[in-house]
Amino acid sequence: MSPVAVSMCICRGVSFAALLPQARAAGWDLAALMRETGCGAQCGLCRPYLRRMLATGETTFHQLLWEDSR
Ligand code: FES
Repeated sequence: MSPVAVSMCICRGVSFAALLPQARAAGWDLAALMRETGCGAQCGLCRPYLRRMLATGETTFHQLLWEDSR
């Protein structure tokens, strides 16, 4: 079992599980999600997770992702 579990934007204190339904309902892409919530727009460390969340619907990640992770 991986010790890694990334499930929120720490800077804004918002879980990916809370963000995903908002993003799906509003049809946000990553830029819109960042603009509307501020998530991903501060330190940026959650940005690759947000990108993957929007693509796959995952809200908890058991691996570390970086900006160039696909
Ligand atoms: S953790 Fe999301 S912007 Fe810093």
